[in-house]
Formats: sequence, structure tokens, C-alpha cells
Amino acid sequence: MSTDQHAAADALRARRSAVIGPHSPLFYDQPLHVVSGQGVWLTSANGVDYLDAYNNVPHVGHCNPVVVRAIAEQAAKLNVHTRYLHEGVVEYGEMLLATFAPHLERVFFTNSGSEANELALRIARQHTGARGLLVTDFNYHGNTTSLAEMSTGLVVREPLGAHVRPLRIPDVLSDPRSQDVVLAEALREAADAIASLQAAGHGVSALLFDPLFTTEGLLHPPAGYVQGLAALVHGAGGLVIADEVQSGLGRSGSAFWGHELHDIQPDLVTMGKPLGNGHPLGGVVTTAALLEEFGSTNMYFNTFAGNPVSAAAGAAVLRETLGRELQAGAARLGEHARTALEELAAERPGVRAVRGTGLFFGLELVDDDGKASADRAKRVVEEMYRNGVLISRIGPKDNVLKIRPPMVFEQEHLHVLLDRLGASLDAVTEPEAVAR
Ligand SMILES: Cc1ncc(COP(=O)(O)O)c(C=O)c1O
Repeated sequence: MSTDQHAAADALRARRSAVIGPHSPLFYDQPLHVVSGQGVWLTSANGVDYLDAYNNVPHVGHCNPVVVRAIAEQAAKLNVHTRYLHEGVVEYGEMLLATFAPHLERVFFTNSGSEANELALRIARQHTGARGLLVTDFNYHGNTTSLAEMSTGLVVREPLGAHVRPLRIPDVLSDPRSQDVVLAEALREAADAIASLQAAGHGVSALLFDPLFTTEGLLHPPAGYVQGLAALVHGAGGLVIADEVQSGLGRSGSAFWGHELHDIQPDLVTMGKPLGNGHPLGGVVTTAALLEEFGSTNMYFNTFAGNPVSAAAGAAVLRETLGRELQAGAARLGEHARTALEELAAERPGVRAVRGTGLFFGLELVDDDGKASADRAKRVVEEMYRNGVLISRIGPKDNVLKIRPPMVFEQEHLHVLLDRLGASLDAVTEPEAVAR
């Protein structure tokens, strides 16, 4: 960037800070000022193209023309709140439900992932008459009061609710013991957490979890863990809520919805981010019985959620995802990426593990002493940015590179990503780079 461009970016940042305050987060030391997007590319104000290997919201690509057209055509015809009959809204609901197992046959639309999780918790509390909640020990499920009271993965001032028990999620990539031992220990801990909720009089309303354990750092629990956990929760009278905000819509490659990877039957599934390709759209999918029980005793009304324009956006995303077989593409490209990332990791002592599945990858970085290195991960993210590729990092130690591109990522993009990643990993481990 030239001096003038730096000055312009700094001025915009100051104006942003003056209107929305300095606490709303921005990526990168020198934040990226974007002006347009197309497919897997974002273009900055100074005309530089960045390969987007981070954003899952533009699931079918930035400014996907099919989605843009669907939104524009519906917006030009009608947009209205949700208390009128509308063919497109019903049709989208039918299309969406057809992607789920038969027992999940009803949908409530929402405007965000937070709203979806909030509603799912409300349904679970009313069904069970209990308040107790099982979550993971580094979770993020949204920004409402109830969700803040259970968040352990993002800074919040609300104390952890007395009715919340965060579970340690076992991870076979970092635990050298046998999978049987790891599994038995983790399920014992879950049973203890349930017993403690019951002893405290909270009971168990639900388990809320992200099937890919993404905020948690893309953990790999032993086979049977999630199944065992779900059985314990059901045995205690609680419901199982799968948060598919990050793991759904074919992202994992081998399953359309992340919970299918674990062979479980959740009672509620929540959705958000990719559902509308950027248009605010989320939802809760559940059973007919749960919808009936909740709907008949609550007047649940949501002005904007699932309006005709949102439904048009959602339907276009689904049509693109299914019609272009993006799940199969994620599986195929994901395999290539995994092999290449494993080679790249094998050549570099700073990379401890390759995590993830489909088009969602994590590279766990360590320092020269083998300890988790947030600093190294941050420097790789910044170096990638300088080299025109956008990624981020996750995990309790902030040392797992997060690579989660739009689903229209292709082989040629993967080459660019791998090339820059190898170079960036090397650059940050060179002594002179440390001094920067
Ligand atoms: C797993 C998960 N659930 C829920 C949410 C909240 O979604 P939203 O920001 O749309 O409210 C997020 C957001 O990052 C998330 O990652």
C-alpha cells in the first residue's frame, strides 16, 4: 500500500471508530478495506484481489449471480412480514426440510444463528421443564443473554450460569492414549456433569454443540463420543441441539449436516451464517411434536424471519449447493487439501497437526519448544494477508489456523493457498521475520 492509501484506510478506521466505537472487531493489524467480491475473491479499495480462504457466509461464492438475481427479483416484486401466505416461503421450507432426516420435519425461520440457538433453548426448556445445559469448554453460540451466560470461547462479562456445565471435548490428535481410554474418560466426565446438574436441581434441558467443534479448535473426538454423549443427555431427559451454523450445508464433505458425521438424531438443529449467502437468514429445524408443543403454547412471531426475499435467497443458495454438487466438491478438494497440508506439515516442525474435514481446515501451530504458539499463528495469518490470501485462527490457545473458504473454491485456488501457506510458514520461522 502507498502512503496515501495507508492514510485513507486510517481515516476510514477513525470514522468507523467514531460512529460504532473501537470495540467492534476488525481483522489484521492493517484492516482490510473491501469494496467488492466475486466467487472466491475479494477486492480492496486499492484494487488488490485477495483469495478468500476464510469466509463461509458466502457459501456459494461472493455475489453469486443466481442468489443476487433471486434477491433482486423478489425485492422488486414483494417483501413483507411473515403473517401472509406466500408460496416462495413454503417452497423454501419444503426444500430445506428435504435435506434432513425424516424425523426433522418442521422449521422455524430466524434472522441469525444467535436467534436460532435462543429459540432452540427456549423450546428445550419448555419441553423438559429443566434449565440445566451442557456445552463445550470453549464454545460460542451467539450474542443473546442466555447464550452469553454459557459462552466460554469469547470474552463476555456475564458470569457462567449456575445451570451451565462446560464439557472438555476429547481430542484424539492431541491425546496419545488409546481411543477407548480417551472415550471412556470423557463420557465419565459428561455423566458427572449431568449428575451435578441434577444434584443442583437444574435438571438437564439440553446439550448444545457444534458438530465440527470449530470454535474449540476443530477437535477430533474419538469415534462414538458424540453418540455416547447424546445417549447420556437423552437418558437424563434432555434434548440434543446441533448448532450447524458453521458445519452445515455440505461443508464437511462427507455429510450435508455436520451432526450426520456422528450418526446421531438431534431433536433440534440450528442454522445461520451460510444459509442466505450473506442475506440474514437462520432457522431451527425440529420434530413435529416439539413444534406443536411449543407453537400451541407460545405465540412465536418473528417479523423479518423467513420473509419472501429471505426465502428467495435461501432457496437460491440451496439450489446452487445441490445443483453444483458442492458437498461432493468439498469432499474431493478436501481430500487433496488434506494430503497437501499433511505433506506441508511433515516438512515443518512448527506444525503439530492438520485438523478438520471437507472444506474446513485447521493447522495447529507450535513454537520451537513444541508449545502452542498464538504468536506464530498470528504472524502466519498476517503474512498470508500480505501475500493476498485471507485466513484466520481459532482455538482456546488461538494457535490453530482457520481455513474455511466459500464452497466454490477450486483446485487452482487450492494451489495458490498452499503455495502462499508454505511460504508464509517458512517466513515466520526465519529468525529475521521474528524481529518484524
Ligand atoms: C457455531 C456458531 N453458532 C452461532 C453463532 C452465532 O451466529 P450469528 O452471529 O448469526 O448470531 C456463531 C457465530 O459465529 C457460530 O459460530
